[in-house]
Amino acid sequence: MTQEKPKAAAAPWSGRFNEPVTELVKRYTASIGFDRRLAEFDIEGSLAHARMLHAVEILSAEDLAAIEKGLAQIREEIRAGRFEWLLDLEDVHMNIESRLTAMIGDAGKQLHTARSRNDQVATDVRLFLRAAIDEIVALIKTAQHALIELADQHTDTIMPGFTHLQVAQPVSYSHHLMAYFEMLARDAQRLADCRKRVNRLPLGSAALAGTTFPIDRMMLAKELGFEGICENSLDAVSDRDFAIEFCAAAALVMMHLSRFCEEVIIWMNPRFAFIDLADRFCTGSSIMPQKKNPDVPELIRAKTGRVNGHLVALLTLMKAQPLAYNRDNQEDKEPVFDTVDTLTASLRVFTEMLGGIKVNAEAMRKAALEGHATATDLADYLVKRGMPFREAHEAVSQAVRFAEGRGCGLADLKLPDLQQFSPLIGEDVFAVLTLEGALKARSHIGGTAPARVKAAIAKAKKTLN
Ligand code: ARG
Repeated sequence: MTQEKPKAAAAPWSGRFNEPVTELVKRYTASIGFDRRLAEFDIEGSLAHARMLHAVEILSAEDLAAIEKGLAQIREEIRAGRFEWLLDLEDVHMNIESRLTAMIGDAGKQLHTARSRNDQVATDVRLFLRAAIDEIVALIKTAQHALIELADQHTDTIMPGFTHLQVAQPVSYSHHLMAYFEMLARDAQRLADCRKRVNRLPLGSAALAGTTFPIDRMMLAKELGFEGICENSLDAVSDRDFAIEFCAAAALVMMHLSRFCEEVIIWMNPRFAFIDLADRFCTGSSIMPQKKNPDVPELIRAKTGRVNGHLVALLTLMKAQPLAYNRDNQEDKEPVFDTVDTLTASLRVFTEMLGGIKVNAEAMRKAALEGHATATDLADYLVKRGMPFREAHEAVSQAVRFAEGRGCGLADLKLPDLQQFSPLIGEDVFAVLTLEGALKARSHIGGTAPARVKAAIAKAKKTLN
């Protein structure tokens, strides 16, 4: 943490001022408490900048060597936790630069030539986000692998599919799981697409208008692994749309995880009892000895709200900011960092939780049998025998009412009972009314037939590898 009694170090910009900032203002405006997290990226950016300055003959070979050595040593100090972060030096950029100058003398003072903290910080945040996106995409893929692993075991496990959380039509648990695989696949694509816009170089834009030095931005981009450069200096230093876009993509991932978690919570309630969640993902109550609470999925659900909040914070932060850089942008970091931390932690625990789901296939099947889940199949059966769908719908509604009155399912009715609703109904109707029949019949692409779901899983495995 920032030390309590910082050494008095004059801010590099203090020359034109008559008095220093007050202690309160210093604390209020400093970002070192959180932006030190950008240190590695700041050093990476500075190294590239120094090499470029040397390549265009602004920086001597000796000064470059001294800067490279100094920054490498600073990096070691930071990694070892030996670096002394000073509040007086405001932010990560000035802390590192000041240490560099203290270490190597005048060469350190050359580093900021043709650069401003405005293009420097924009570069740092982009480098940070690029690395974060790569980690998150890898974590999403791991979650997808875990979903496939579970889905593989349940292509023949039948559960009621729901609409309005009411029993609708039978599906396999596997099909249900693969729905989440698709959601996460889009999430990964969205992040990969966002990465393209994150991965552009702002450096070289200086404070806002560019610089009078003959810099080589292409070289900088290449050094830092950027796919291209920001084409307008005013835009480059000021807009944070790439971070907003990232937070939006992150919020969507969390939203998808929260949907799954909500189902885990409902399904492990004994009234559903579709699944049990291993004890290691649950906690007890300090007063009610019988309780087993699904805290992990509840917290993932809750943290979704937190990430949504960060997205709104950034949108609000950026809204109506006049060109170009404004100090407002310093406030982008904490929401971005916390979004990354919350999402990575949630993905990790989510994937682990998938391994703790124990499926109660009997309870799933029983529930599917209870809600007249094959009523649509009966209507389709009548249509295939020439009845218009609307009439079939009406006939089956009557049959459902009749079965309800008897307290049984459609498949439990005798043939003559069913025939009072339509003479088109024959003995072969019972194959249609079974859960297995209902699944098997939906064999088109995207359907829940076990053979089709197996094909979907095979395809999913291929896309992941
Ligand atoms: N700490 C600042 C930020 O995060 C760095 C840029 C400051 N630039 C300035 N002109 N005050 O945005």
